Amino acid sequence: MHEIIQQLEEKRERARKGGGERRIAAQHNKGKLTARERIELLLDPGSFEEWDMFVEHRCHDFGMDKETIPGDGVVTGYGTVNGRLVFVFSQDFTVFGGSLSEAHAEKICKIMDHAMKVGAPVIGMNDSGGARIQEGVASLAGYAEVFQRNVLASGVVPQISVIMGPCAGGAVYSPAMTDFIMMVKDSSYMFVTGPDVVKTVTHETVTAEELGGAATHSSKSGVADLAFENDVEALLQVRRLVDFLPPSNREKPPVRPTADSSDRLEMSLDTLIPDNPNKPYDMKELILKIVDEGDFFEVQPDYARNIVVGFGRMEGATVGIIANQPMVLAGCLDIDSSRKSARFVRFCDAFNIPILTLVDVPGFMPGTAQEYGGIIKHGAKLLYAYAEATVPKITLITRKAYGGAYDVMSSKHLRGDVNFAWPTAEIAVMGPKGAVEIIFRSDIGDAKKIAERTEEYRQKFANPFIAGHRGFIDDVIMPHATRKRICRSLAMLREKKLSNPWKKHGNIPL
Ligand code: HXC
Repeated sequence: MHEIIQQLEEKRERARKGGGERRIAAQHNKGKLTARERIELLLDPGSFEEWDMFVEHRCHDFGMDKETIPGDGVVTGYGTVNGRLVFVFSQDFTVFGGSLSEAHAEKICKIMDHAMKVGAPVIGMNDSGGARIQEGVASLAGYAEVFQRNVLASGVVPQISVIMGPCAGGAVYSPAMTDFIMMVKDSSYMFVTGPDVVKTVTHETVTAEELGGAATHSSKSGVADLAFENDVEALLQVRRLVDFLPPSNREKPPVRPTADSSDRLEMSLDTLIPDNPNKPYDMKELILKIVDEGDFFEVQPDYARNIVVGFGRMEGATVGIIANQPMVLAGCLDIDSSRKSARFVRFCDAFNIPILTLVDVPGFMPGTAQEYGGIIKHGAKLLYAYAEATVPKITLITRKAYGGAYDVMSSKHLRGDVNFAWPTAEIAVMGPKGAVEIIFRSDIGDAKKIAERTEEYRQKFANPFIAGHRGFIDDVIMPHATRKRICRSLAMLREKKLSNPWKKHGNIPL
């Protein structure tokens, strides 16, 4: 018996060593943690239950039968984040470059299947040279099995990908189908084809970092949600994100006790809106002042900065916040901001997270670049997402709500449950100047007349009361009471029930 136990311990020790000391040192020299160190940091101490430590590949070609390492390049199992269950896989670059074999894929699929059965998030730490070259189509099949599960799990359990090394070729499509992608600066990259292929095909010279590094994907392409300085920061922020999320679509988001009173008044908000309607202000100030303890987890902070999305809490419960940002492009809606926010709205709706929309939008961005890029289709994504959402929807118009953008930004007409406006709100087809120049075109040469007409239009339409007369706005509220009014509305909506007509699925303008 003693011998058997010793053998087990030896096998475990071999698995824990992965690709050996030399490769572990190489991993550390690149500023990267090992697969197991990452899991240790991500999960609560001592909570990790590992599965499939003894799984080995089944490849006999290219001398692979003489090279087996227990675990086969991925560490899988479950544990807790602040006491809440999550499933994890962490690819081990020290074992065959973390490449994905048939057996490696089976391990990932096993934890994904369990996560869906019990209803818990899946967190994948990706650090892999892609398909295990020696296995050929068996490894491609393995990828497809993972892809299929990514799709089935989408909207059922939250899926988070942390890219902590290479992720190239078709392998990028698994993270791409998860809900959130985090990247680590200078040590991770994602691309469909690497710099060498790019050079051959398009004659562009580009580094891996420029082509698919963390900065590129978190600010240019929008593929990644967040970029972090190192592995430690990335994993700690994943823990923070998990705290906001429900474990599955079968449950409500977690409630964290808070000392921040729901009645808290924030007098400084009464002066947030500048006197000059064309002067910007920082919408994030409003967000930070109304959420519990100023704790806001922003998603995609460096991409399409004209819209801000992220998670906060009100009376301890998670809310998803979507807010136009007047500081960037005057807060207009364009292709990137529409795509960014539409996806966020759909995530919240899938996972029972109430949506709070803060509106200051002058309209959709004009121009050929936008039209040729398909702003019609992309803008429609956001419209579709809001109209489809059945979670509690609260909207506050702080200043401008012009034109189609008024309709899109969770208006009453898209089943907004509670629609508030500040006294500074201007709800109209367009801004006063543009409107007057169209309806009084013949007066354009007469500056005095135009100024009078503009003022007349401003008095008549640039306020929240016309919308208020029709009940499109439920109340005009004092800025300092915003938190209190939103908390009450959320409490009123806690048991909201609403469903859409049965269908196989809608046809969102992709
Ligand atoms: C088997 C692999 C491997 C792979 C790396 N290794 N990638 N083994 N299959 N795909 C092994 C190496 O042989 C090496 O083994 C160890 O991992 C570390 O690799 P290095 O090259 O020494 O590391 P580094 O210099 O850091 O370069 C990392 C790398 C490079 C950029 C990822 O290894 C690389 O280009 N690999 C091939 C990438 C690739 O083309 N993959 C297939 C993509 S297609 P030793 O024993 O020396 O430590 C794909 C399709 C997916 O993935 C399809 C889904 C539909």
